[in-house]
Amino acid sequence: MSKPKLLVARRLFPELLEPLRAHYELDLHNSDTALEPAALRARLQGCWGMLGSGSERVDAELLAACPALRAVALITVGYNNLDVPACRARGLQLSHAPGVLTETTAEFGLSLLLATARRVGEGERYVRAGHWQGWSIDQFAGAPVCGTVLGIVGMGRIGGVIARRAALGLDMQVRYFNRQPVADCEFAQWRPLPELLAEADHLMVVVPYSAATHHLIGAAELAQMKPSATLINIARGGVVDDRALAAALRAGRLAAAGLDVFEGEPAVAPELLACENALLTPHIASSTLPTRQAMVQCAVDNLLAWARGEPGPTPIPA
Ligand code: 8YV
Repeated sequence: MSKPKLLVARRLFPELLEPLRAHYELDLHNSDTALEPAALRARLQGCWGMLGSGSERVDAELLAACPALRAVALITVGYNNLDVPACRARGLQLSHAPGVLTETTAEFGLSLLLATARRVGEGERYVRAGHWQGWSIDQFAGAPVCGTVLGIVGMGRIGGVIARRAALGLDMQVRYFNRQPVADCEFAQWRPLPELLAEADHLMVVVPYSAATHHLIGAAELAQMKPSATLINIARGGVVDDRALAAALRAGRLAAAGLDVFEGEPAVAPELLACENALLTPHIASSTLPTRQAMVQCAVDNLLAWARGEPGPTPIPA
């Protein structure tokens, strides 16, 4: 009997994919460039499943054009690229990768916070460009982090680890906004969003992207923040209004921003690129080799379970 066809929509770690060959016929899109919708549709013809990342859009239109598709396993924790109700309506099995990237992503969020507040990017560019003529008393004076107030937008797994490390490691007073206050949140206190914005010396955005969180931090919200504050986005492009943010940074209404994700990435708004007080990184918060391997392994484990007719270990929640 022929094996079900599985599209691997990205260049991943080939050795981790080997066990799948016992159960699936693999079609490897061995590239770092994501398949555009039309190419993805063509490539998925006759495929039973897809092993994908956060870049491949699976919506009702694609599903209608790919009737054989029964399963999608993502290496990412975020799954806003899937129209989950449309996938469920067609009975697809869906998995993502929660848990395996929590610590690594939290670590990066704190790195970005420290680097942004202390103007590491600006200083590095200055030295590298040969501009440094000598020490001066207020050169690249940044904002303190230890002992200040951290506001976290989104108290999920990653937010929880950031709260703990910020409280215990950096002596920060941690506040958070979540639609629902989280029970037993040991290291952070809930605040309504307007209060959080006004109180935070540093704001960390870690909420998943959805229609409800689109531009959750826009011009009006930025205007409620302290002009001395920094903003960090390690969530998804689109949660923060990048153009409104660039305007606030340019006008001195916000001290600095550290961004790992962007609206329409890999394109970055030119207004942001022009801001010296923005520290910009290419969506690498989960990028340590062990974590990226664990993310792929998680998708593989789900696919292997499905091949045995068992439920996968990490389904996308109902
Ligand atoms: C990925 C992520 O690197 O897991 C997620 O949701 O944002 C990152 O870990 C990225 O989505 C790759 O597409």
